[in-house]
Amino acid sequence: MPYAAPEPKANQGQPVPRIDARAKVTGAAPYAADFALPNLAYGFLVTSAIARGKVTDFNLDEARQVPGVLEIITYQNADKLKETKFFNDGGYSSTKVQPLSSNEIHNEGQIIALVVAETFEGAREAAFKVKPTYMTEEPTASFDSPGANQEAAKDVSPKYEGDLKVGDAEKALQQANTKLEGLYETPTQHHNPIELFSTTCKWEGDKLTIYEPSQFVHGLKNGVAQELGINADNVRVMSPFVGGAFGSKGSVHPRSALVAMAAKRVGRPVKLVVTRDQGFTTATYRAETRHHLKLGAAQDGRLSSFSHEGWEVTSRTDAYLVGGTNSSARLYHSDNIATKVSVVRADRNTPGFMRSPPELPYIFALETAMDELAVKLKMDPVELRRVNDTQNEPVKGNPYTSRSLMQCFDEAAKKFNWSDRESEPMSMTDGDWQIGYGCATACYPSNMAPAAARVKFTRDGRARVEIAVHDVGTGAYTVVAQMAAEQLGIPVERVEVALGDSDLPPGPVAGGSNTTASACNTVMKACKQITDRLAAPPLSERIKNAIVGKAKGAENELEKGNREGAFDRLGVEVIEEYAEWKPEGAPWDSFRAMHKGQVRMVGGEMKDKSGYAFGAEFVEVRVHKLTREIRVPRAVGAFAAGHIMNTRTAHSQLMGGMIWGISSALYDATEMDRKRARYVNDNLADYLMPVNADIGTIDVSILSEVDDKINPAGIKGLGELGNVGTAAAISNAVYHATGKRVRKLPIRIEDLLDA
Ligand code: MOS
Repeated sequence: MPYAAPEPKANQGQPVPRIDARAKVTGAAPYAADFALPNLAYGFLVTSAIARGKVTDFNLDEARQVPGVLEIITYQNADKLKETKFFNDGGYSSTKVQPLSSNEIHNEGQIIALVVAETFEGAREAAFKVKPTYMTEEPTASFDSPGANQEAAKDVSPKYEGDLKVGDAEKALQQANTKLEGLYETPTQHHNPIELFSTTCKWEGDKLTIYEPSQFVHGLKNGVAQELGINADNVRVMSPFVGGAFGSKGSVHPRSALVAMAAKRVGRPVKLVVTRDQGFTTATYRAETRHHLKLGAAQDGRLSSFSHEGWEVTSRTDAYLVGGTNSSARLYHSDNIATKVSVVRADRNTPGFMRSPPELPYIFALETAMDELAVKLKMDPVELRRVNDTQNEPVKGNPYTSRSLMQCFDEAAKKFNWSDRESEPMSMTDGDWQIGYGCATACYPSNMAPAAARVKFTRDGRARVEIAVHDVGTGAYTVVAQMAAEQLGIPVERVEVALGDSDLPPGPVAGGSNTTASACNTVMKACKQITDRLAAPPLSERIKNAIVGKAKGAENELEKGNREGAFDRLGVEVIEEYAEWKPEGAPWDSFRAMHKGQVRMVGGEMKDKSGYAFGAEFVEVRVHKLTREIRVPRAVGAFAAGHIMNTRTAHSQLMGGMIWGISSALYDATEMDRKRARYVNDNLADYLMPVNADIGTIDVSILSEVDDKINPAGIKGLGELGNVGTAAAISNAVYHATGKRVRKLPIRIEDLLDA
């Protein structure tokens, strides 16, 4: 099998090619902004040029004279939108502040007007001719800026688990044989999915249809309905294909209800495609973080004290935070643990989810510190992980449902030839290049959420699955089809899948890597209801077994005959079943919330168990002796995530994650003009990302792992696992190559000039 389609190991599904692949590459797959609606008008946003203050007035004369202008909405004439809760506080919206609700400016690039015109060009021209006058105040940009005030996470966010405390970390640190203390930093990053943010709204009487690339159609439907003050039953959201999201399309952005308002006013459908730079400030992003790690260890490397304090930037208006100490404090065993998280307020747009929101920054800090500790202890960094490995998370003592971390390390180390490494820094060279080897742990909580699905099965052996989950490029269409095919005993080609439409049974947000586990368990349940009906007594066990669960590609005559016989006995041609599934431990109101577009996600730390997927990543770094250019010729990752539905799509997710991890380590950062609290590189020309020539060999292994405790299908999500740990592996390899420890991301040439 080709590299991209690894041979399945035990407990792994076939590398079925994406069932939507042809539609995507031929352009037949409709993305949200592709829907051609008759009589369409076009919107264009006007955004604030200042980060803090007020708009005192607008001069719209010039803008109104642009031919074809239909409407200009500002705070002076906007309809009042209803307050909604911030998504991290249990609401839908990316910020609780509604657009155009007042003249106040909370961040640079905030929406201050929406222009609607006959053409896109007309709307754009008029938008540039809208002349606001401002009353400007000095903004706070970030950490260390004047006016940056700090608040404890536990005081501002209901989502935060709380600061953790086990034993006495401070005392244990004093008594530790070896101590390590470090400060770590990660930058602002923007997702920049290739598909731009967009919203198209169409009214038919009271009924509103929204075409928008979304990771959560039921959330968007309910959120916009709430903002507009209308019944959610009158709103439909269509998002069949999404051109990249990574967390940025999971909450309701301020533009969506505004476009609905505009469409109502002009009495025509309105399409708004947000420009790349406007996406930086009207959608969400990963905010900068800081970390203070203190580790104490015994001579043999066992951690006796762990403390992790984190600081995260958020907006003045909403307390977004990721609180990754929940994961970092649980990764290794220690009897003494202390964590604390604070947010720092700045005049910025509100941050939000970005791939591995908590783990990417917090595990970078921890895994760099672990490498530093290994150096101090003169231990192999792999062995340091081994002595601290545990099958019970150390805060509550809950067992992991499965944890194959060291198996991953051993597999990846072997493939990487880790044993060739000379332990001393700067001891490996190749001509003008200093060579460094580094490794780090990857972990990600195995999230699951309530979902509903409808499955239709016909006598001739075809199935249709309906479930409002989302394929954000991950392969959701395909794994859902595979689960139905396996359960119903038919080839995968005979399964049709409908996703990404709020008229379908509700699924959760495509966030926290929960889709495969949530959707596949739900589809499995619906299919079981079908096969139970088909195999109802008096069918013998032997025939029952022959009907279901035997699909290995082609269906055989026995299966076909049995299926047709079973349908005939019931006297029906079609069986349709609806199922609602929720993970163990989900709260009592899970299904009620699900139907309102609210998610009750379970995973990571649960009541009596801990569910995480793990991996190990190894990289080779080459640093040029003279230019200090940093290259990553190869990266090896080994991961384990329970039952793998499809080794091809899983492999792609992990490989893509590792590539993004390389980007996080060396490229990915939003630069700020700190005086004006503005993003400077808000375009794809200036925002650094690796291109093909920057990426060497990415070697991904997926270990066989059985987890019969996480959920009935034994699935652990892995979409966000791959980019956790990569950055630390690279910073550790840079140290090994150069002797210079860089504790902030991204690591750039200038960081190594003095090394
Ligand atoms: Mo992912 S950042 O949880 O969409």
